[in-house]
Parts: sequence; structure tokens; C-alpha cells
Amino acid sequence: MNRILISILCSAAAMTATADEKILFDFENYNIGDAIPMRDYFSEDGSTASKAEITADPTGKAGKVLHVKNASWNTLAELTLGNISADEISEYEMIAFDLYRPATETDHYRQFRCGIGDEYLHDVENEFLHQGDVAKWVGRTYRINPVSSTSDKFYIGFNSVDMEYYLDNIRIISMDSDYDMNNPEETLRYHADKCGIGIGCAVPSSWAGVNVNNDNDIKVKTTYKNFNIVVAENCMKPDATQGSQGNFNFKEGDDLVKMAERHGMEVRGHTLVWHSQIQPWISSNGYKNDKGNNGKGYNREELLQIMKDHITKTMTHYKGKVREWDVVNECLDDDQSIVRNNPTKYNMRKSVWYNVIGEDFLDSAFVYAHRADPDAILYINDYGADYKGDAKSEAYCNLVKRLLKSNIPVHGVGFQCHLGLGVDAGRFENNIKRYADLGVECSLTELDITTWDAGNQDQHIRQGEDYKALLNVALKYDHVRNFVVWGITDDKSWRSPDPLLFKSDCSPKYAFFALRNTLESWAKEHAAGIEDITVDMQPELAPYVDVYDISGRLVRQQLDRDEISNLDPGLYIIDHKKILIR
Ligand code: XIL
Repeated sequence: MNRILISILCSAAAMTATADEKILFDFENYNIGDAIPMRDYFSEDGSTASKAEITADPTGKAGKVLHVKNASWNTLAELTLGNISADEISEYEMIAFDLYRPATETDHYRQFRCGIGDEYLHDVENEFLHQGDVAKWVGRTYRINPVSSTSDKFYIGFNSVDMEYYLDNIRIISMDSDYDMNNPEETLRYHADKCGIGIGCAVPSSWAGVNVNNDNDIKVKTTYKNFNIVVAENCMKPDATQGSQGNFNFKEGDDLVKMAERHGMEVRGHTLVWHSQIQPWISSNGYKNDKGNNGKGYNREELLQIMKDHITKTMTHYKGKVREWDVVNECLDDDQSIVRNNPTKYNMRKSVWYNVIGEDFLDSAFVYAHRADPDAILYINDYGADYKGDAKSEAYCNLVKRLLKSNIPVHGVGFQCHLGLGVDAGRFENNIKRYADLGVECSLTELDITTWDAGNQDQHIRQGEDYKALLNVALKYDHVRNFVVWGITDDKSWRSPDPLLFKSDCSPKYAFFALRNTLESWAKEHAAGIEDITVDMQPELAPYVDVYDISGRLVRQQLDRDEISNLDPGLYIIDHKKILIR
């Protein structure tokens, strides 16, 4: 067998489409030690005791940066614009830059300002925002307004009397660029595949009139172009699948699975045992129905059997088609104050399952699930357990440890992540990283981040930064498998305002671009090692081929070689080679 080295050419991806992104100042054409003037915006002569100069990168990386030390209020660094005018800058909607604050900076809430001549590009009264972590570079993005100045003086900085900071890569961004989902490089999925992370979305049933069998529908297309894993928002829940006892209806779920199969996506199953959206014929407290137990409700044995039947029937139906199941959803009580005095304990929710069967309904559910499909990855899933230190997060971890200690087949821990603006990615990271030692995978299973006011662009930007911060955590840990957003378009979300990645017409929001650019740069930085691979030469080309996506997932089995060019646009591995279908 002939072994040859095939060099895989990673397309020298130019920054794809956030649109237009233009660097104003990266400081590389300055000299270390160059002084940059500081001006007081309000004083007549502009004089100030604040100082700025060009220095080396404080983290030791190559390149030059701007170092500012404020010594009086209202002072901004004055830079001279090269060959770009205020008019051209006004065509952009955002300004972004990298910010480094030394560890000595303890006041995190700072007001950002920038302007051209004497007009403000960004100035929101009383906007004192948390500027992110200290002692590392963080990306900041602000919305800007058009100005009509003819000056070439550009002002930037934080309004503070005593702040020290470094700036780099000051750039302007426009969101107006065309987003073409037929170009794989403009989608989330293309980059997520390279990163080896599951990027997912819940598919709502409430898309009135939308047929997941119709690949040309823009919502369906948005889904399969951008995500490599899907979950049904409602149609695989027990109320939908077993509306009356013993009569199962998998029609809608089957359609979703077929869509996923057509497009090489994985499927999460949600969910098998839950107190909400429960089979309607089981009462909510176990005592209201008239069967068994002297007319008072199901007894333990009966309810265990009901649970077993539901799990077995559903998982057998989807065997081999659903990668992972949320076997038990939201089994913890909201009140977990118990952990304050009992650091290894947790409180179970008083659901019908718990009330009638006892806590071991959990153990049974996972065992039944494992028997039904031994290859499926079995998840426990809950909300409000996202941040380390919150009582419910500690209780969740205690519960998972208890189940694992009992040798219960729990393979995955789901964090729903129904959040709001101002996400604390640091505490999320501290929470999930401890699960690596437990040998389970983790996923963000139902992520959405609400803003405060519908349609507010500044809040959309902050929301994008929050999404991005969570994605960065997910990418950092190998045991974090999926990053799943709970829906596609804002208008069809169960929450409001504006929690998702797309507007109602499927046009992408800032959060979409923030995620895509994060995936893109992560792949470039970390996946570089896959450029050269050694493969076995095929003696002759077979008439049928297996088609893999870039992360090695089989997307088509034994496809007629003549059909290759009809594949959806994207990057594939065929005959051990990387092939781009446009
Ligand atoms: C929600 C759906 O999004 C809604 O359409 C439905 O009306 C109620 O359920 N936790 C879960 C999800 O596990 O199943 C819930 O989904 C949101 C909270």
C-alpha cells in the first residue's frame, strides 16, 4: 500500500463576513515609546495630566499597543486618522477594540467614549459598563452613531480619573454586509465542525406552516446550514408522544430526525421523564387520577412501569438515530438552601415521579434508558444550575456525584442556561470544569440570553459578547460537547425580549456574528495541526463513496460518485481528501 502525504490546503480564509471590518489603529506603525497626546474634552485648551504612549504588549505577545494612564476626568487619547474620513466611519455601526486592564484595576465599571473632532461617535449618558476580566485581553464592542465632522482627530478612551489600560486593534464593524448561508464559511456549522464542537438549536413546533421536510424554507435552511445538532423544542416530550396511554405518536419527531439525516446533523432527544409537559393522563401529583391505589392514583409499581414503557418505547423507536437523550429533566427543587449546612446534599422536586416512586425513580429511569439503547449518551438536565456557588448548582453537582457513585449510567450533564444580559462566564466556567474529573460530558442544552428592551441594538451587542464568552468557555474544555441554543428566531422563542441569534426573517443578529467569528478564530488557532495528514492511497476509485464532514462525522453512506457535485455546499472529506462543494 502506497503511503503518501496529502497536504490539505486550508483556504487562507480572509475574515469572512461580519461584514465589513476595518482596522483603524493597530499601532504597528508607531515606535515603542512614542507619546500619544491626551486631551480633556471639556477644557478650553484640552490640557490634562493623563498620559499615553506606545508600548510592547503587556502579555508578552509580539506587537505594539497603546498604554494609557488617566490622571483627570474626561480625557481621551488623540489619534490621527489615516486615509479614512468621518463620513466613511459613519457608515459603520460599531467600534470594537481589544482592552487589557492590569490586575491592579479594581473598579470594573467604566464609561467608554470615542469621537471625531468635537463630535461623539459613542457617548451614552450614565453608561458605566463592566469592562470584563483584568490581566488579560478582552474584546469590547460599542455601537457608534454617524458624525458629520471634517476633523481627522480621533478620540478614544475611558472617562475616569485614575484608570490604567491598554488598547489594541481599534476597528469599525458594519453589520450590513450580505450574509450568504450558501457560502459555508459564512455559517456557524462550518467553523464549529472544525472546532469539533456540537453547535445546536431547538426546532420549534410553532413555526406555523413551516414544514421541516421542505429544505428550501428559509427557516429550515437556516437550521441545517448553521447547526450540526438539533433538538425538538416540544414534539418529543411525553405529552406530545404519548397523549393517551399506550398510543405513541412520533410523526413530528420523525420528520425532524429525517431532516437531520438528510443534512448530516445529530439529534438530541428531549425529554423522557419530566414533571412538566408530562403524559396528560398521569396526574401532576399522583393522586388525582382514579386508577389503582384505591382510586387515589398510580402506585409505585404502576408508575415505574409507565415510566419504563415510555422510555423503552421512545428510545427503541429512535435507536441509532438520536445521539443523546435528556433522560430526566428538572428533577431538582428550586429551594436548595439545604446545601448551606449540608454541603453534599440536594433537594428533589416534589414531582409525581418523586412523590410516588421516591428518589430512585432517577436510578430506574437511567437504567431503563441504558437498556433501551446502550449506545445513547444519557443526560440529566436542569436549569438555574449554571453558576458555581449558586445553591442549585452545588446541589446539582452533589446529585450527579451521588448517581455516579451508585453506578447509574449518567453520561452527560446538561446546563439549560436560560440566562439574561450580563452573563457571568467565569462562574459558569468554574461550575462546568469540575465535571471533567467526574468523567461525564457537559453541554449547554437550552441557551438563550434575554435583553432588557426589544430591538435595542446596544443590548444586542452586549448579548453577543455574552454568547461569545460562554462559547469561549465551551471551546476551552474537551468534555463540553454541545452548545445548543433554544430556538432559532427571536419571534418564536418562549422567552423575550430578543434572546436568540436570528431575527424573525432569519437575518443574523450581532450574537450570530460574535459566535461565528469566535468559532472561526478558534479553529484557525487550534486546528492548524490538521493541515497535513498521512493517508492510504486507494488503488482505484470506487463507484460509491462515504462522505464525511470535516470533523469526521459520516454524512452520506455509499453515495454514487456522480452525485458528489450535488451535495449541499460545504466542506467534505471524500476518498480521504478535503473537497469543497460550492
Ligand atoms: C419550553 C418550550 O420552549 C415552550 O415552547 C413550551 O411551551 C414549554 O417548554 N426547560 C425545558 C424546555 O427543558 O423543555 C422548556 O421548553 C423550557 C425550559
